[in-house]
Amino acid sequence: MNLKSLAVFVLPAFGFFACNNPAESMQTHLTFNSKISQGEKLFEEKCSLCHSMRPCVGSEMYSVTGPDMQLISNSLQQKFVKPDGTIQLEEANLFLTDYVYFPDQTKAIMEQSVINRYGIMPSLKGSVTDEEIRHIAEFIMTVKSE
Ligand code: HEC
Repeated sequence: MNLKSLAVFVLPAFGFFACNNPAESMQTHLTFNSKISQGEKLFEEKCSLCHSMRPCVGSEMYSVTGPDMQLISNSLQQKFVKPDGTIQLEEANLFLTDYVYFPDQTKAIMEQSVINRYGIMPSLKGSVTDEEIRHIAEFIMTVKSE
């Protein structure tokens, strides 16, 4: 049994997902969690190739293509949740839609060190719709930090 198939076999049992193994994490997650939201499912389908669903630790950061999902949601929640806890979903959705279609250094809210490490995100125009991004925005804005 090679390491990869071992990971598929073992990880679901512990309920966590390999940081650098998004395809497998998606399968296990979808199978084992029936309450998964539409936004989370879409994020896994369209974004987790580069944005791991599980926080990356230590050297894992260097084996992935982009910041993990938790980093992204922390940044967006910092920017689009008011001090009184109100989630500015419309604003977050507008930002996200614009960024996913037209990513650009001048718009980026991630720390400069993240951008230095991974480079700017490629545009996903044509592979994800406005409607899908809206669901993803809901997920990103409401997911809790681990
Ligand atoms: C091909 C790889 C790739 C895919 C696919 C991808 N991203 Fe990214 N994304 C990146 C990289 C690299 C960064 C870090 C650099 C940056 O901020 O642009 C990033 C950064 C981001 C950021 C932070 C932007 C900021 O303000 O700095 C958001 C939000 C984001 N991605 C959302 C998404 C969503 C939503 C999807 C799925 C619809 C997605 N990404 C799919 C590579 C990807």
